[in-house]
Amino acid sequence: KGLTYSEAIEKAGNKLCRFPLKSVRGVPLMEPIAQKWDSVWAFCPDPSDLLIATYPKAGTTWTQEIVDLLLHNGDAEACKRAPTVVRIPFLEIYSPPPIPSGLDLLNAMSPPRVIKTHLPIQLVPEGFWENKCKVIYVARNAKDNMVSYYHFDRMNMTQPEPGPWEGYIHKFMKGELGWGSWYDHVKGYWEERERRNILYLFYEDMKENPRREVERIMRYLDLSLSDDVIERIVELTSFKVMKDNPMANYTFIPKPVFDHSISPFMRKGEVGDWVNYFSPTQLQLFDEDYERQMKTVNIPFRTKI
Ligand code: A3P
Repeated sequence: KGLTYSEAIEKAGNKLCRFPLKSVRGVPLMEPIAQKWDSVWAFCPDPSDLLIATYPKAGTTWTQEIVDLLLHNGDAEACKRAPTVVRIPFLEIYSPPPIPSGLDLLNAMSPPRVIKTHLPIQLVPEGFWENKCKVIYVARNAKDNMVSYYHFDRMNMTQPEPGPWEGYIHKFMKGELGWGSWYDHVKGYWEERERRNILYLFYEDMKENPRREVERIMRYLDLSLSDDVIERIVELTSFKVMKDNPMANYTFIPKPVFDHSISPFMRKGEVGDWVNYFSPTQLQLFDEDYERQMKTVNIPFRTKI
């Protein structure tokens, strides 16, 4: 209502804090989301809407930027019309007014809309499936995903305190972080990907060959762009360029909500950074637990270090 997203956050000021997690059907979500859960669950998309679903820190923002550029024929200026969260609303996010909720933003837009969610598949509103909406899922290998989430929890003052790294690993393995278990998340979408026509992507594949993955998304969206435009999109969505793009790097969320001096949102953007964090004992514990939790599926995660 006349305020920019940044101004609304500044206005909400001291109502923002490290929110506790509250269970919604067994999945821990930030308390304000849990309190407004019924309205999220009731959301009904248009069949033309597109959903980008991820576990937090799996490459959501990167994928959002690729999709927005694909839909705007590689027009960089058009994709700087607003911050990521305004261009591609975050379905379930609810923060104290006057910050617009994801639903407020969506209701003010007309379809076709692109929508972001971190919800595990069983919590995605039924209308997405009934209306056969397209869904892009991005998965990132567990260890890098956890390292990235750890740093995000340090810098995002609305997320619960991460505490020391040693304890964080246990919370991750037990699924006690916001949006729940990484294991259930990646498995849930994997198992449904064919039946529900979900494009299931991997962060590591995007790093390995961004052009190939941009083209994969383009085909899924039934678009056909010129080679030059595809090349431009690959360049514009490189880590280096996005890190300096104020409409994509989350610097529009003012301090003290996102404290980039603790850890920038665009932190490293690499595969294999986890080697700098795990002790040999932690690695063994994590790997054994991973085997246990992932033995029912064979998701081709690749880590090249
Ligand atoms: P790191 O913390 O490992 O650097 P999300 O958008 O889901 O919150 O994910 C954020 C992670 O994706 C961060 O990982 C961030 O640096 C990385 N990322 C964002 N844009 C990227 C890009 N263009 N290329 C590679 N990684 C990117």
